[in-house]
Amino acid sequence: MSKINTIGVLTSGGDAPGMNAAIRAVTRAAIANGMKVMGIYRGYEGLINDEIAEFTTENVSNIIQRGGTILKTARSKEFMTVEGRERAYQNMKKHGIDALIVIGGNGSLSGAREFAQEHDVPCIGLPGTVDNDLNGTDLTIGYDTCLNTITECVDKIRDTATSHERIFFVEVMGRDAGFLAQNSAIATGAEVAIIPEDTTGADQLDNFIGRGIRKSKKSCIVIVSESPKCGAMYYADRVKKDYPGYDVRVSILGHLQRGGSPTAGDRILASMLGVGAVQALIDGQRNVMVGVKNDEIVYVPFVNAIKSDKPLKKEYIDAMTVLSL
Ligand code: F6P
Repeated sequence: MSKINTIGVLTSGGDAPGMNAAIRAVTRAAIANGMKVMGIYRGYEGLINDEIAEFTTENVSNIIQRGGTILKTARSKEFMTVEGRERAYQNMKKHGIDALIVIGGNGSLSGAREFAQEHDVPCIGLPGTVDNDLNGTDLTIGYDTCLNTITECVDKIRDTATSHERIFFVEVMGRDAGFLAQNSAIATGAEVAIIPEDTTGADQLDNFIGRGIRKSKKSCIVIVSESPKCGAMYYADRVKKDYPGYDVRVSILGHLQRGGSPTAGDRILASMLGVGAVQALIDGQRNVMVGVKNDEIVYVPFVNAIKSDKPLKKEYIDAMTVLSL
């Protein structure tokens, strides 16, 4: 196995708070181990278009607390093509990059897997997504911050919902995964969570409103995972039609959920995973995502990490019935 002298690092897909902490950790761990680091801008787009510059420890000073990603990010359509990946590979060779560290979500790690297979390039993934939907890791970078942001927003919505005795449908991120909706519902004391993986929430909504909410509780909060067809608007319209007596409002939290300074938890997670990613390369690991399981750093083959079936705990879903009494 040839020695890795230079690594490239990029962030890809939806940004997530803590990505900067991960870039910092990767850069410093690599330099500490005698490697050279190349920062690749705009994800795979930058690899294809040669937006690559050397990173020193100074490049990553004073960024651990910043949201977003100093490397910028993109969802690259071109990287999905054989020609795009070939151009990316040529640029890697041009800059002497021996291995890639990709910080991103499902789509980004799928891209890394394909690239690694096609060009025999060592790739290590870091789970960077607010959705928490990568398998083999308890947490993804950005999830904790996003959950806290949602909690803060819903607490505020609760004030006005209670004052006006309204039903609020709050839509949160998590296109295909309900972790944010489910756990923000528990954290905010929401009455119902509607998530893509399970229909319990939709049934709970009918039961809850059907039985007339509760006399002492004339408002309620329903958290809904975003969805092109069955998002917050869909459920709000349904309730308006079926129960015209209720005053219904919708609040779509949108991209504010992805911004902000990362929590201490996300900073620590990103730092430890970043160090773990460089160690993985030193140890000869290839094509794995670095994750955390029961407080231990783990290496998860890409193929397992990107499976779209990370389970939500059924007890958490069921607990909503009790907690919203
Ligand atoms: O993948 C993370 C995510 O935040 C999803 O929950 C959301 O559906 C999506 O990104 C939105 O991304 P964008 O608006 O940047 O395309």
